[in-house]
Amino acid sequence: MAKQSIVYICSNCGYKTPRWQGKCSNCNEWNTLEKSQISNIKHQIGTATAGKMVDLSEIAENQKMRIKTGIEEFDGVLGGGIVPGSLVLLGGDPGIGKSTLALQLCLNIREQSVLYVSGEESASQIKLRAGRISKSHTLQVLADTDLDVVLATILEHKPDLVVIDSIQTLYSEEASGVAGGVAQVTGAVQKIMQTAKQNHISFIIIGHVTKEGYLAGPKTLEHMVDTVLYLEGERFAAFRILRCVKNRFGTTNEVGVFEMQGQGLVEVKNPSQLFLGEDSIKASGNIITSVMEGSRALLLEIQALTSVSNFGYPKRTTSGYDNNRLQLITAILSKRAGLNLSNQDIYINVVGGLKIEEPAADLAVAVAIISSIKDQVLDGTIIVGELGLSGEVRFVPNLEKRIKEAEKLGFKQIICPKTKVTTGKIKILPVRTLGDAVKLVS
Ligand code: TYD
Ligand code: MG
Repeated sequence: MAKQSIVYICSNCGYKTPRWQGKCSNCNEWNTLEKSQISNIKHQIGTATAGKMVDLSEIAENQKMRIKTGIEEFDGVLGGGIVPGSLVLLGGDPGIGKSTLALQLCLNIREQSVLYVSGEESASQIKLRAGRISKSHTLQVLADTDLDVVLATILEHKPDLVVIDSIQTLYSEEASGVAGGVAQVTGAVQKIMQTAKQNHISFIIIGHVTKEGYLAGPKTLEHMVDTVLYLEGERFAAFRILRCVKNRFGTTNEVGVFEMQGQGLVEVKNPSQLFLGEDSIKASGNIITSVMEGSRALLLEIQALTSVSNFGYPKRTTSGYDNNRLQLITAILSKRAGLNLSNQDIYINVVGGLKIEEPAADLAVAVAIISSIKDQVLDGTIIVGELGLSGEVRFVPNLEKRIKEAEKLGFKQIICPKTKVTTGKIKILPVRTLGDAVKLVS
């Protein structure tokens, strides 16, 4: 008989320890260790029966096409649709729109059979939501939380695609721990994986992310599935970005942009327009820059506001921008452009609720601060470039895409690092240093 031993697993990070502790020594969470049993059978090397090898050239290619959901922003992120028999994990904060997106996909698929398993809402609640987001209401729904019942239903009807909403609500008698705990969630995904691979059924598994960014408690889930998608966005801003962080069947540099409206998530074909808006006013301190989201260039407005400090220590406050990066840019501005900022509070805001992480926005932030201090409006100009500590303007990747996007949206000129790109209408103003840029805008 297999020998069993007891192990305690942290429900937050998946850390294992042989003894119970009040606090997990990996993630420092309190009271998260759960008792679990593992078998420790040890095979001696060479005693197991050998496995069967296959030659790749002899395998017939899986002719089954990818499942197209008809929602291009979603298909594009996956690399052209859902691969049959694959597991897609859809993560995101509670209330961000995961269930809405999944339901929209299901209602949109015509050619394949789809089953929507919900452990969170009843069938009539799903019907209510479906009524809001689509005209078509033909969809098989199963409202159950018992994993074994769910799997039995799937095996009996063999749909092409199954949505599990959400993995944390599924419960199996066989696994230990509470529903949503590590043992339950990993056990469930393991069983789902077997079902998927053996029967060529694709799964979209929805998982909640905890505040710390752990998916479904343990990050281990990410290793088990084929594709990991995150739906991101600020709860109070309308746009949502679907990002792929792992993809066994395609690249991870595509993103999908959606807008949450009354009738669900609507694809945004021209995201720059969404972020720039029509009501942006021409004021000092407002600068448009271009950031890359996946392989797409997005135009965004950065706003800077400076005001004389009332206290000895000047404030540096940001929204959607890294505070440390602002400190660095402030230091470069003081040293290399001779700007006295020691008695100025500086506020930076990225319009639309998006977070900028790219250094390519450095120059735009610097010029926005200058524009606010000098109270000069800069209209019709895009600014991109990374700033070095000595005030040099560095090369940014994908400059051509950024220039094309600016041109498409009717901007007259772009201030950017030196480039060989030649374009039609938009005027390129190359700069080597921060000083060059300051001269251009003042
Ligand atoms: P939901 O898909 O339930 O989020 P999740 O499954 O990620 O927890 O979406 C929740 C939010 O979306 C909810 O606060 C309301 C909003 N919403 C709309 O704005 N329009 C809609 O048509 C729907 C269905 C939801
Ligand atoms: Mg939900």
